[in-house]
Amino acid sequence: MKFFVDTADTKDIRELYDTGLLDGVTTNPSLVAKSGRNFKEVVAEICSIVPGPVSAEVASLDYEGMVAEGEHLAKIAENVVVKVPLTLAGLKATKHFSDVGIKTNVTLCFSPNQALLAAKVGANYISPFIGRLDDINLEGMELIQQIRTIYDNYAFSTEILAASIRSPNHVTQAALAGADVATIPPAVIRKLADHPLTASGLDNFVKDWQATGQSIL
Ligand code: E4P
Repeated sequence: MKFFVDTADTKDIRELYDTGLLDGVTTNPSLVAKSGRNFKEVVAEICSIVPGPVSAEVASLDYEGMVAEGEHLAKIAENVVVKVPLTLAGLKATKHFSDVGIKTNVTLCFSPNQALLAAKVGANYISPFIGRLDDINLEGMELIQQIRTIYDNYAFSTEILAASIRSPNHVTQAALAGADVATIPPAVIRKLADHPLTASGLDNFVKDWQATGQSIL
């Protein structure tokens, strides 16, 4: 499973990219607002840090506006993926982008039918929002499983990008369900390496090693 980081914070992106764990980045208007940065400048900077796919979302809600904005965003860097909302206008724009070779991430997906439509118009990524479904007492991970089955039934090449990930357990469950990608907040990526038995085991190794009085170099 590929890891994207879900943030527009370039400090976090640099740090995490240096670990070798990052395959790409997703942003959304809320994350850009949180960064306090100019949208196009921050997208350009992220694309210069991470060579993998970087999602940048259109702001318009109508087809013409989405097409104009998406074509503009795609010119920022080769690795820009235009993020488009899952509406009929967004699907029509996705079809246009697919026809002209601009990569897309269809966002705000909450049902298997929505995911089916996105695949039919040639989306590169579909973003089902796990955490937001869990928030309203639904089973977010079931959606990933259903989309996996539908896409495999028809050999769709659209990649399932598990979004709205809130915990390490979400990452495990998305991987078990066969998501192609998980986009994960920086704090959750950092937690993935933690285990209390790793920490206590390491403490013991350090103490025992110091007691030997030896050094490796
Ligand atoms: C990513 O593409 C989504 O915009 C993001 O994962 C949404 O996460 P949230 O539900 O925690 O805001």
